[in-house]
Amino acid sequence: MTSNTRIVLAKWPETVPVPGEHLVLDNSRTIDIENVPLNGGFLTKLLLISPEPYMLSRMRDPALRSFASPMVLGAPVVGMCLVKVLRSEKEGVNAGDYMYGMTHWELYTVQPYMEGRCMQRELWTPETFDLDSLVLQPVPDPKGAFPFSRYSSLMGIPGLAGYSSFMSLIAPRLNTDGQKTVFVSSGAGGVGTVIIQLAKKKGLKVIASAGSDQKVAYCKKIGADYAFNYETESYREALEKEGPIDFYYDNVGGIALEEAINACKLNAYIVVCGHITGYGKPVEERHGIKNTHLLFERRITIQGFLVPDLLSPTMMQQFFQDVPGWTAQGLLQSEEKLIDGFENAPQALVEAVWGGSDYSVSKLVVVVAKD
Ligand SMILES: NC(=O)c1ccc[n+]([C@@H]2O[C@H](COP(=O)([O-])OP(=O)(O)OC[C@H]3O[C@@H](n4cnc5c(N)ncnc54)[C@H](OP(=O)(O)O)[C@@H]3O)[C@@H](O)[C@H]2O)c1
Repeated sequence: MTSNTRIVLAKWPETVPVPGEHLVLDNSRTIDIENVPLNGGFLTKLLLISPEPYMLSRMRDPALRSFASPMVLGAPVVGMCLVKVLRSEKEGVNAGDYMYGMTHWELYTVQPYMEGRCMQRELWTPETFDLDSLVLQPVPDPKGAFPFSRYSSLMGIPGLAGYSSFMSLIAPRLNTDGQKTVFVSSGAGGVGTVIIQLAKKKGLKVIASAGSDQKVAYCKKIGADYAFNYETESYREALEKEGPIDFYYDNVGGIALEEAINACKLNAYIVVCGHITGYGKPVEERHGIKNTHLLFERRITIQGFLVPDLLSPTMMQQFFQDVPGWTAQGLLQSEEKLIDGFENAPQALVEAVWGGSDYSVSKLVVVVAKD
């Protein structure tokens, strides 16, 4: 028997989850890797974990409204991960395959995973997306063309979110004369780095914000024309100097969104990808935006999206045509901060959302096993 450590959601966090209290390492289970029944499924070994902001929206009482289906209390945390198949009874899945998608934070799992899957669909409101539907998909061994960790950045949710939203929401609006300007918040984050690079490919002027000088340097390295540390230069100061803007790509909401609205030109277009400033904060403590009158005065359009809305078969085909090739050729860059040790995954999730300013990379990845 082999120890089958997992990280369990022990308690709903009201704000920031505390490792050891809400997210608990559970060493109580064992597994017989050679003989555990597969019931027509397959057995996977966890290699890499991709802690991401949306996971917090899933760590809530199922009765509370949110865009994402909830996780299950007392069950392993579920998130996007890279796994290796050890045994399989499923047609098309073979031992030795690598797969990326949703799975338990658990060393070994018989797939499809069950414990972490929320079945209380009767509680879901119409805007709820079933994140458990993002099941493991086979991914090729890049054989050194790029590190496996790119599957959680450029080729994972941040890459898909950035690529699909830029290509379907911003790119079609670039067919007019003159250079356009885009402002991207959380420019050094997983999604932000993709937006900076795609915007530069399309010839836009890019303004980016980030929370440390290291991250600012990284935004510039990947092409931002102007990047600023919002801790030392205000959004207003930077946007008055480098704006006005045609597009705002919003990863954070709050004061950044308010100042971006102030900096908008007539007919500007705002894409709302996420509102990280509000995550883990009660509604009454979030920043209240006071300049919404500018939306009609300047005919500004605001468009929110969820990645699955944009993933038509054509978009997926385009994504897989462009992104792996650009990644292998270094035309699309990413840096991942690798954190060793499964036991560090809860803290990595906290860092992935509230950002340690001590790193200047686009993505945090937890390395559970090398192979
Ligand atoms: N709509 C969708 O389908 C979809 C899909 C994927 C992601 N998202 C959303 O897109 C956004 C970006 O996702 P991501 O995975 O790339 O995450 P990310 O941008 O890497 O998010 C983490 C970063 O947010 C920044 N941040 C945290 N608190 C902040 C604050 N108060 N003000 C400004 N910045 C703050 C921190 O960077 P700094 O050090 O620079 O502050 C932190 O490192 C998130 O809001 C996420 O929820 C949406």
